[in-house]
Amino acid sequence: MALSDFLAELDALLSDATTAFAADADAAALEAARIQYLGAANGRIKSVQKGLKEVDKADKPAAGKRFNEVKQEIEAAFEAAKERPVAISGTAAGRAIAAGVSFDPTIPGIRPRLGRLHPITQTIDELKEIMGRLGFTAVDGPEVEDPWHNFEALNIPAEHPARDPLENFYLEKGVRTIFRGGQAAGGDNVEKTAAKTVLTPFMLLRSQTSTVQIRVMEKTPPPVRIISCGRVYRPDTADATHYPMFHQIEGLLIDRHVTMADLKSTLRLFARSAFAPDVHIRFRPSFFPFTEPSVEVDMSWQGGWMEMGGAGMVDPNVLRAVGYDPEEVTGFAFGLGIERICARRHVITDIRELYKNDVRFLHQF
Ligand code: PHE
Repeated sequence: MALSDFLAELDALLSDATTAFAADADAAALEAARIQYLGAANGRIKSVQKGLKEVDKADKPAAGKRFNEVKQEIEAAFEAAKERPVAISGTAAGRAIAAGVSFDPTIPGIRPRLGRLHPITQTIDELKEIMGRLGFTAVDGPEVEDPWHNFEALNIPAEHPARDPLENFYLEKGVRTIFRGGQAAGGDNVEKTAAKTVLTPFMLLRSQTSTVQIRVMEKTPPPVRIISCGRVYRPDTADATHYPMFHQIEGLLIDRHVTMADLKSTLRLFARSAFAPDVHIRFRPSFFPFTEPSVEVDMSWQGGWMEMGGAGMVDPNVLRAVGYDPEEVTGFAFGLGIERICARRHVITDIRELYKNDVRFLHQF
């Protein structure tokens, strides 16, 4: 092949390739052009390179030199095209770039909408932080529970009205393991030999986070200092202050010589951190099967009192149920409603708003 023919081929290749790479292509078109010109198997550079062999021997050095220059120029054109902002089809900016309108970086951009944590999750995170500073470790427990952890070990016997089917979400069928040689109490402390699995209708969605007290004490020797935040379920009709699913923060402290004064100080410190330094707390006598004495906990708000939950000294029967010696250790427990805390902090007047998933509402927090 004559040198002039070869050089003409190179020139055509260079002009075609640089035109293709300069076009306002999107990423897919650019990749197609890369394969067409620079492709290792069938790219046009490759086929032109094959022509180099046909060039007269005397002209080969000149032809080879020009070939290398052209190849480098095409590669540079491709690299430049890769760096260029790509027209994003479908956006105003993309169309403007495609239409040859220059990009104006001073025009305000379209701000992507950022997600954020749900106000209940934010509240839980803050409560964990506050109680963490007081030395309480956050633990979790299951939402589907057996009667041992939801009732029995918490000193709530079978005939207690709190176990009424109308007060709980029982699951139609729950799998419980019965062990030979022992009546299944449902706890982990049952002797485990030759298990056989039977269906019983007794599992339920936990109605309180106090279940986690039992789960922790069954596994841990005293002292214990935990909180547990999570969902609980009760068949309540939804209104401004009730919902069939809500969240509780449970606290449990077991040690030697724990008294009601420790409970009150802890809750006061908690309230001051969670709300305001001048918040007051008040105890009203109450009853829970798993605490004795028991109290309702109120916190001052807007000139009055707001009920936040229940608390008390852990009942000796509960300590015995988990294998603790009530003569050795005592403790306090409390359970507060997280929706109430969240609603109070953000002045939310209807907790149903929290579960409608309306981002116009949730976006405020
Ligand atoms: N579990 C109780 C409830 O759900 C609250 C509570 C927790 C009371 C711990 C005393 C001690 O209402």
